[in-house]
Amino acid sequence: MIPHPFDFADRVAVVTGGSGILGGAIARALGEAGAFVWVVGRSRPEKAEMTAQDIRNQGGNAEAVLADVLDRTALQTLADRIFQRHGRLDFLVNAAGGTNKEATTSPERSFFDLPEKAVRHVFDLNLQGTFLPCQVLGRQMAEKRQGAILNLSSYGAIHPLTRSAAYSAGKAAVTNFTQWLAVHLAQEYSPQLRVNALVPGFFLTEQNRFLLTDEGTGALTERGQRIMTHTPAGRFGEPADLIGPALWLLSDTARFVTGTTLVVDGGMSAFGGV
Ligand SMILES: NC(=O)c1ccc[n+]([C@@H]2O[C@H](COP(=O)([O-])OP(=O)(O)OC[C@H]3O[C@@H](n4cnc5c(N)ncnc54)[C@H](O)[C@@H]3O)[C@@H](O)[C@H]2O)c1
Repeated sequence: MIPHPFDFADRVAVVTGGSGILGGAIARALGEAGAFVWVVGRSRPEKAEMTAQDIRNQGGNAEAVLADVLDRTALQTLADRIFQRHGRLDFLVNAAGGTNKEATTSPERSFFDLPEKAVRHVFDLNLQGTFLPCQVLGRQMAEKRQGAILNLSSYGAIHPLTRSAAYSAGKAAVTNFTQWLAVHLAQEYSPQLRVNALVPGFFLTEQNRFLLTDEGTGALTERGQRIMTHTPAGRFGEPADLIGPALWLLSDTARFVTGTTLVVDGGMSAFGGV
């Protein structure tokens, strides 16, 4: 008989950005599959708590915690708590990331005027915000010689997004780092340590709403319309679209899959525009 691939009972997961829309959907799915989920947010405890509460309401186990993914000390405190409580960590999902207005070109802000601080923040949030949790929380996995890491890259890593230079470069770095770490952990520690990335296309969430919809009317911006005409599926992604790909990459069913990026974009990257 084929075993249930997504039975994660007794597994322990951390989802950074589990307070957000995509990370929240993945966290809830992991909870439903039986894992104990540590839902990590940055500054608004109620957002991480909402995800954790949803998981508990469904009969699962979860705890919300605040930790900035750019703060090694906060991550180490989290790692210590997890190890004391469970003695293990099976899954790390790095979903904290994103961009902001200040690091995005616009009619008011040309490329030449992008503030260095904002650019650095977006680049750091995406690359360092993935790198540091892999170092601090991944150490426990390396010691146990078992575990799966899932990073959130982006369509912008394949085709740089107009206006979003820092974000596109940061996500390209995430894809590159995913491949590097997959090789390193398999060769130096164990082939039972896997690292992969999801490459979402366009999902309407808080980090990109200002680019895709008009703040006043909610109607699609010109950019939002352009995305729609270039997405063969004819719609934005929905958080639920990531659940199957995420659970599969984390599960033992994907035990020979490491260093890969799985594109979930409604066909956008396959479409030549004609
Ligand atoms: N929305 C999309 O279309 C899309 C497409 C491709 C990739 N992604 C990526 O998917 C991931 C999740 O995106 P989302 O759309 O759910 O965004 P979101 O803004 O809804 O969620 C991101 C979460 O990360 C948290 N966060 C931000 N900085 C943090 C920090 N320093 N430390 C800890 N937590 C922090 C935020 O509080 C937020 O809850 C991001 O990496 C994003 O870049 C999103």
